[in-house]
Amino acid sequence: MAYFEMVCIECGKAHDMSRPAYACASCGNLLEIRLDPRTALDRVSKSDMRKRALSVWKYRELIPVGVSSPPISMFEGGTPLIHCTRLGSEYGLKHLYVKFDGTNPTGSFKDRGMTVGITKAKELGMKRVTCASTGNTSASLAAYAGRAGLECVVLIPEGQVALGKLAQAMMHGATVVSIKGNFDQALDVVMKSSEKLGMYVLNSVNPFRIEGQKTAAYEICDQLDGTSPEFLYIPVGNGGNSAAYWKGFAEFEALGLTSGLPMIRGIQAEGAAPIAKMFSSGTQTLEPVNRPDTVATAIRIGNPANWKKTVRAIKESGGKASTVSDQEILSAQKSLAKLEGIFAEPAGAAALAGILKDLEDGALDASSHVVCISTGHGLKDPDIAVSQSSKPRTIEPTIDALSALLEGVR
Ligand code: F0G
Repeated sequence: MAYFEMVCIECGKAHDMSRPAYACASCGNLLEIRLDPRTALDRVSKSDMRKRALSVWKYRELIPVGVSSPPISMFEGGTPLIHCTRLGSEYGLKHLYVKFDGTNPTGSFKDRGMTVGITKAKELGMKRVTCASTGNTSASLAAYAGRAGLECVVLIPEGQVALGKLAQAMMHGATVVSIKGNFDQALDVVMKSSEKLGMYVLNSVNPFRIEGQKTAAYEICDQLDGTSPEFLYIPVGNGGNSAAYWKGFAEFEALGLTSGLPMIRGIQAEGAAPIAKMFSSGTQTLEPVNRPDTVATAIRIGNPANWKKTVRAIKESGGKASTVSDQEILSAQKSLAKLEGIFAEPAGAAALAGILKDLEDGALDASSHVVCISTGHGLKDPDIAVSQSSKPRTIEPTIDALSALLEGVR
């Protein structure tokens, strides 16, 4: 096997990595990149890799871009793994860690995939890049395209993208196109028009995106001193990130850089849960949800493009996918912010909602070692945050007025 190869997840057909490709030329299924664990660390020793600072490009030799391609980077990755002792004692969970990927340059995990995807776009000589997005992908793509000097076209579902994300895509100079329809329809237009319009697609069907995102799993193992957690809770929308994490853990284990593998618990919002439904009903194929709806707009997706990859990943890990209600998401969002100082957007709190639900249902033992993935920053969606909080109180500018107010609060 070559150092890296790009193959179909179903029929195994190998594809040329020097040309844009998002689906198998023979059977139309998803593509993935495989690396050969025996040769993967030929270019760098484990101890040299260990000495580098935590970031996506710490793992450069495990990322399939040419050695002479300069990374288009804004120092993404290297995000904190926070031991949540206050949340843990509130809910009786001793070993609860939150991987807060909202601290990436544009405020979400998408930057991990985008630094690799845009570096690949430059390598391929593409001039124009595109994506459909519920918001974060468009914000990230617009930023990295700006930095790389590429034209950027983003398609978003009309009226369904949180304000902060929209502001980012516009500020970074993308052509922002509002589609009269939902995310799934926007992605359909992107996939069908990209070749004709000379656009490189940077949705998570692009296997190079996944190669950047898998580094979050590598980081967790490094942050846990060469071990994996027992459970990984993660929100699932289009299904790319959960598959990326599993790939990262499995590769690190095959390379002897971590011991053990986590069980993946994928969390979907009740109103947009076609993957969770597959697990509860035992069906083998996805039945799309026609009108997906949830307060967590980032994961308002009814027809996840990566469902095959993520279902395979979750099953291989021995895990499952399940749902949480909007109310549970908002309550988890508040707990994270109040008890731990972690301000996540609603989708970034969905995994914690899943943990709390499983604890209550007895599906998760209180002694378990659990990592909760928080995918995006709360400032992305200020409207939700403000609508969920008590309003500031207005007083006269005097000590007495302040003191009276604080008396009332006590
Ligand atoms: N969390 C956040 C904050 C997201 O923005 C997304 C996806 C997910 C979780 C789900 O990840 O799709 O890989 O399963 N956002 C995409 C976007 C769809 O367009 O920004 P997934």
